[in-house]
Amino acid sequence: MEDFNNNNILDPNVKDDEEISEVSLRPQKLSEYIGQKKVKESMKVYIESAKQRGEALDHVLLYGPPGLGKTTLSNIIANELGSNIKITSGPAIERPGDLAAILTNLAEKDVLFIDEIHRLNKSIEEVLYPALEDYCLDIIIGKGPTAKSIRLELPKFTLIGATTRVGSLAAPLRDRFGIVSKLELYSVEDLTTIIQRSSEILGVKIDYKAAQELAKRSRGTPRIANRLLKRIRDYAVVLGNGALTLEITKIALDKLDIDELGLDNTDRRILETIIYKYSGRAVGVETLAATLNEEVETIEDVYEPYLMQIGFLSRTPKGRIVTALGYEHLGIEYKLN
Ligand SMILES: Nc1ncnc2c1ncn2[C@@H]1O[C@H](COP(=O)(O)OP(=O)(O)O)[C@@H](O)[C@H]1O
Ligand SMILES: [Mg+2]
Repeated sequence: MEDFNNNNILDPNVKDDEEISEVSLRPQKLSEYIGQKKVKESMKVYIESAKQRGEALDHVLLYGPPGLGKTTLSNIIANELGSNIKITSGPAIERPGDLAAILTNLAEKDVLFIDEIHRLNKSIEEVLYPALEDYCLDIIIGKGPTAKSIRLELPKFTLIGATTRVGSLAAPLRDRFGIVSKLELYSVEDLTTIIQRSSEILGVKIDYKAAQELAKRSRGTPRIANRLLKRIRDYAVVLGNGALTLEITKIALDKLDIDELGLDNTDRRILETIIYKYSGRAVGVETLAATLNEEVETIEDVYEPYLMQIGFLSRTPKGRIVTALGYEHLGIEYKLN
């Protein structure tokens, strides 16, 4: 039996065994990719144009909070191009030689997907620059004064980089992407559609109202929506006949300690820490992280985007503050300091 207080359920990062179970829910074509209208529309044009010109697509950088569909979209792009995709990640490429091996194994118009590209180390970025710009690789042979540099030509490929922290990307690297797209948190409407689609794939009956309720509590994030759907499916089996009604959905979500807006304990702790421990004054993110015993990165990437989106938290030059709306949600009287 899983612990109800285990609020990891709202962590939009991929969990260990989730990668496999997510695959079945992953849309394969651009037309199945729900929401992100702007990104989708422009991507469609770029893909079509590259295909008509018979050239490799420009390098693409996708950024935005975890769980919004960066990996999914990258696979779709390769699919729509009819290209092979080679998948790796920033931390997986340890030495320049690792990247050189990957690059020299690519074929013409292949897609190379580098997840968490902000975590590539400097020496590897240097190898990447000429590869991106001129499709070539500079290899140094030998050591010391007799060392020679030779230039290897690479096939015309497309790099797709994904990152949750575009600000941590070195400017010269960022500048080498012809297409830069930001993924936004999803609307309740789009998430409802995603939940309905996932239910169908999973063979779960779900009422429209139940799907909508789930969407409202998924923090604008498809990964969370899909995860919650799987969790509350268990309740539907135990409490009812397996169909997800609004009532069962609400009971299950309450048991999981997820409130009407999808906030969990950590969200509430963030808001309450600012209000009570710092008397509502602006708090720097480092201080906040230390007080909460969380990583700065986790607060910035995982919690803040949604708290800011719903207007509960605001970033000021002096630090984070809770808005009047945030106080209201927590049932705390708002006093201006
Ligand atoms: N636009 C979308 N339409 C439908 N499902 C989506 C969409 N975006 C993401 N998903 C679902 O959410 C899950 C997480 O998406 P993923 O691409 O792994 O996110 P990221 O790489 O940004 O962390 C996927 O398994 C997929 O099922
Ligand atoms: Mg991903």
